[in-house]
Amino acid sequence: MQSCAATDRVRTRYDPPHSAGPGETDSPAFLAARSMETNMAAVPKIVAEKLEKRFGHIHAVRGIDLEVPAGQVLGFLGPNGAGKSTTMRMITGFLEPSGGRVKLDGIDIAEDPIAAKRTFGYLPEGAPAYPDMTVEEFLAFIAYARGFSGKDAKDRVERAIGRVNLQGVRKQAFETLSKGYKRRTGLAQALLHDPGILILDEPTDGLDPNQKFEVRELIKELGGDRAIVLSTHILEEVEAVCTRAVVINKGTIVFDGTPAEMESRAPRDATKNRMDAAFRAMTTGDVAADAERGAGSRAKGGRR
Ligand SMILES: Nc1ncnc2c1ncn2[C@@H]1O[C@H](COP(=O)(O)OP(=O)(O)O)[C@@H](O)[C@H]1O
Ligand SMILES: [Mg+2]
Repeated sequence: MQSCAATDRVRTRYDPPHSAGPGETDSPAFLAARSMETNMAAVPKIVAEKLEKRFGHIHAVRGIDLEVPAGQVLGFLGPNGAGKSTTMRMITGFLEPSGGRVKLDGIDIAEDPIAAKRTFGYLPEGAPAYPDMTVEEFLAFIAYARGFSGKDAKDRVERAIGRVNLQGVRKQAFETLSKGYKRRTGLAQALLHDPGILILDEPTDGLDPNQKFEVRELIKELGGDRAIVLSTHILEEVEAVCTRAVVINKGTIVFDGTPAEMESRAPRDATKNRMDAAFRAMTTGDVAADAERGAGSRAKGGRR
């Protein structure tokens, strides 16, 4: 499990060249180094403020506030229809919010969508791709669309294929792939430009147990100094890879804390599968209603 260490790493990477001596604290070099240090530590990778989405009479997302710093792997949980995919589509600019705003690496996605979209890789729900293209053609196309060419584009495609183990199917048309390989091709596409932010909508959906294991290991490895948000229904996955768990129910955040804190919310009499018991307690019946009333926007600032 990662802890505050990830943030400390980011901070210390931009240490000023030397500590200030007497009278030096207002020197331009010292102030520039201090300002850089402060900025790098302070700007969260993902900021969502008061996000709202209405589809006609369906109020799918109701005021989500979320900040995700570098080094955090956030498990985004909630029952079907809770609003996870809608939130992720708004964060990535693929769906216009009815209210609120999103900043990625400090860039407002509504103001500068092209620059904001360079900052992240996104694995959407399902498997959007061109059915006739082979895996390698698809990845080469994405590399081209992202502005890479020549050897750089080729190297990036090779690295992505290697990272998610697509060697065996690289010449296969996308439509002939199993669901697991389609997901993995989607993951390779999201990693191609080596982004500092990853938004992954159910990355292990449809994978067999071995593939799930591989993808979890990859996500842990990618964690490092990136900010990762992944949605999942598999609670053991949250314990295995996430440093933070956020649960939403009916478009509202009802829990935000560490996986261990989430487990501790299970009812006392739950002796097995305590994560599942905690999830049920948060998203069904009176407990959910209480949480909805009291915990509307508790996610701000983010715990680790
Ligand atoms: N394009 C859409 N048009 C109308 N309703 C939608 C649309 N997309 C999602 N919804 C509704 O918004 C709610 C949240 O959906 P979604 O974000 O997909 O949930 P989750 O990913 O948590 O399962 C659901 O009630 C869903 O039916
Ligand atoms: Mg979904």
